[in-house]
Amino acid sequence: MSATNPPRTFHVKSFGCQMNVYDGERMAELLTAQGMQASDAREDADLVVLNTCHIRERATEKVYSDIGRLRRDDGTTPLIAVAGCVAQAEGAEIMARAPSVRVVVGPQAYHRLPEMVAAAAAGGRETETDMPAEAKFAALPRRRKSGPSAFLTIQEGCDKFCTYCVVPYTRGAEISRPFADLIDEARALVEGGAREITLLGQNVNAWRGENAAGQPVGLAGLAQALAKLPDLARIRYTTSHPADMDDALIAAHGDNPKLMPFLHLPVQSGNDRVLKAMNRSHTAESYLKLLDRVRRSCPDIALSGDFIVGFPGETDAEFADTLSLIDAAGYAQAFSFKYSARPGTPAADMDGQIAAEVMDDRLQRLQARINRDQLAFNRSTVGRRCTVLVERRGRQDGQWLGKSPWLQSVHFTDQAAIGDLVEVDLIEAGPNSLAGRRVG
Ligand code: SAH
Ligand code: SF4
Ligand code: F3S
Repeated sequence: MSATNPPRTFHVKSFGCQMNVYDGERMAELLTAQGMQASDAREDADLVVLNTCHIRERATEKVYSDIGRLRRDDGTTPLIAVAGCVAQAEGAEIMARAPSVRVVVGPQAYHRLPEMVAAAAAGGRETETDMPAEAKFAALPRRRKSGPSAFLTIQEGCDKFCTYCVVPYTRGAEISRPFADLIDEARALVEGGAREITLLGQNVNAWRGENAAGQPVGLAGLAQALAKLPDLARIRYTTSHPADMDDALIAAHGDNPKLMPFLHLPVQSGNDRVLKAMNRSHTAESYLKLLDRVRRSCPDIALSGDFIVGFPGETDAEFADTLSLIDAAGYAQAFSFKYSARPGTPAADMDGQIAAEVMDDRLQRLQARINRDQLAFNRSTVGRRCTVLVERRGRQDGQWLGKSPWLQSVHFTDQAAIGDLVEVDLIEAGPNSLAGRRVG
């Protein structure tokens, strides 16, 4: 590869989960600190960072088609860096298959991005997929600006090894960032404009640390300390694992007023044989009991989940158990996916891989129930008064969009500004959003 001018502009495109969005923001901050300028259009940028996701087959294929699409009309390409979970899992393959890629950097090594980009501009091809994550966070610049709702990664990695999932391989072992660092980063985000912080982790409720008094604390203790930041109004967290839902966290939903009444708690299946084959540590019954305990602590809570249909060997009757669990749980929303065999995971080699048509049919039936429950939940909140955090302008004149405490999208038309917390009466519900009327 020949040398090029050091890039002056960059574009970061993130795929996948919110942790990737967070990483994308941090990479942008790193590059900005080097004097580079962010560009909204990737066609114009000197450097394009594709921050990739490996969770399902489709997500991975997208990377290669995206690399192809970066070729400009005159045959040139920007300097392309592939980051994220595909970089971690298939770095060598990307380098071999896509000669235009000049940098491959894994999710735990992106603090090295600026020097790698400089070396690539000087003619090299750079790969870094080192773990673990501690060095990364210490090397990132202090945060300065934030939108009203900010992400803060507090925990990385996963030790759960669900048999279908690549995350333990792409993100490494579970680590918790230190308490003091998190309070510091949260303070910087709030000073930069954040009113809401969503704490992130692949298993966010597995976070453990020591508070300022040197006592061991979990996520509830961290949320309690964050609640003391006066200008921080709302705390959320995602994604939690049922096994790490401890008593203190359940209690916090009842007594920490800044902790929003929303819980995303993936279950994956409602059938115990399938759950066992997935290496999930809960049964359908223990999961539903856990939801009961959460609801006793916070009757108002909105629940969300993740589902996989068509796990190897799943029969119609086993799938029907998942539909029954949905009926019993009463979700406010949920995500659902067709099982995707991932290279290197135990489930990819299991007998009984399910035909695509069967998965399509099951996904449709499952999503019909979820949609039914989502609409029912939204309707159940009509007539309630709640606070909405204003996040952006709506499409119509004078219209604003924001989130209710239950993570619903709410629109209203009135005087307001981004970052305002406004009182709203919810007056009309659709499947995906609600109309509100500002109070007073
Ligand atoms: N750590 C989180 C989820 C991370 S991945 C948890 O355990 O809850 C987000 C979701 O993607 C998972 O909850 C699961 O529903 C889905 N998923 C993961 N691997 C998958 C695969 N191989 N095929 C289909 N869906 C998958
Ligand atoms: Fe994947 Fe399971 Fe870990 Fe979630 S808990 S990231 S689904 S292995
Ligand atoms: Fe995807 Fe990696 Fe997140 S595989 S879902 S970007 S942890």
